Amino acid sequence: MGAPAAAVLDLQSIRRQFPALGLRVDGDPVVYLDNPAGTQVPQQVIDRTAEYWRSMNANHGGVFITSQRSDAMVDRTRYAAAAFLNASSPEEVIFGANMTTLTFAVSRAMAREFQPGDEIVLTRLEHDANISPWMALEERGVRVRFADIKVPECVLDLADLERQVNPRTRVVAITHASNAVGTIPDLKAVAQIAHRVGAWLWVDAVHYGPHGLIDVQAVDCDFLVCSSYKFYGPHLGLLYGKRDLLRRLRPYKVRPATEELPGRWETGTQNHECLAGLYGAFEYLADLGGSTAPERAAFERAAARIQAHEGALVARLIDGLLQLPGVKIYGITDGERLNQRAPTVSLRWDPHRPEDLSRWLARHQIFTWHGDHYAQVLIERLGLADRGGTLRIGIAHYNTASEIDLLLEVLAGFPGA
Ligand SMILES: Cc1ncc(COP(=O)(O)O)c(C=O)c1O
Repeated sequence: MGAPAAAVLDLQSIRRQFPALGLRVDGDPVVYLDNPAGTQVPQQVIDRTAEYWRSMNANHGGVFITSQRSDAMVDRTRYAAAAFLNASSPEEVIFGANMTTLTFAVSRAMAREFQPGDEIVLTRLEHDANISPWMALEERGVRVRFADIKVPECVLDLADLERQVNPRTRVVAITHASNAVGTIPDLKAVAQIAHRVGAWLWVDAVHYGPHGLIDVQAVDCDFLVCSSYKFYGPHLGLLYGKRDLLRRLRPYKVRPATEELPGRWETGTQNHECLAGLYGAFEYLADLGGSTAPERAAFERAAARIQAHEGALVARLIDGLLQLPGVKIYGITDGERLNQRAPTVSLRWDPHRPEDLSRWLARHQIFTWHGDHYAQVLIERLGLADRGGTLRIGIAHYNTASEIDLLLEVLAGFPGA
């Protein structure tokens, strides 16, 4: 990566750009550690969205100025998205409502080619949006298998993945980072295992997107999905697919809509104002990488800076949590291997219920999440399904060391602790 080691984030300037970070409740500042469920947005996203409403609000394909501006804006956003994902061409980038909707759409289209007895391999790390769409294909005779994890580190058991994958496997669908415990699996190794039997690699990068550099070419995935509301943008989903596959598969679409890429996959009218806002998110990230243009090199530098800052924060958080007697962290805690996890920490502090801990923190305007985080299969595997799941603390690059310290102090003061 191009970023010099000294290139650190200017937190003051960053935080000023996010109006929601200035929110106060009863005079107290709020602390957003609920980021895995969605991040706050910078002013640039708000401005680009408002600009859309003011000067280019129109449907696609008209011969008049607002429609032309709107189409030009969508094209610009698609170019920036291609750079963000490192797709080889913008036509490999499809926009949609969110990751879940895109996954249901493409998995159903894939199933038009599948035969009874074909198999899909998933892992026990997945968010359910990367499970239910594949299980829905069981009604067509497709079989779903799961590769296991090693507990309590919650790392993928690659040997088990190799055992599950076989010549009937059509898709290996795996997360880029677990939204519940943070694990980042070795996707290059998984790609090799999938491609050896001719299966497609489907990557869920929703949780990874705000924390690392997505690179569809380096991973060699066939498809990848992510959501911009997790990386400082509006509520939208993005799909990358290899061009030949996006051409070959037959989407469910209306007849008058184009058969060309990318339009054949973008059913109905797109959320133009959010696409304008998404461009603002790319501009913001590019700015973090020291550039005014949303280009690949800027995204690379931004990701390196974000990782350095978030890595320091998660180390501080884990150290502090482990000093609280009885706290158990699910996920990697080894300081030497923090690059194999996102800065998202799941814990139990028995006998306290995760919901009670989260409510206690919320009373102090510290926002966290509790429960299964829609990673039901994982939470069941950890034996926590009937016990309220985990407390999840999810760091983003706009968080500060003093926010982490405050969380640790308030948590330590939990009544009964
Ligand atoms: C890892 C992961 N995958 C998928 C999803 C679903 O994303 P979306 O809300 O865009 O459908 C989420 C949402 O939290 C997630 O964290």
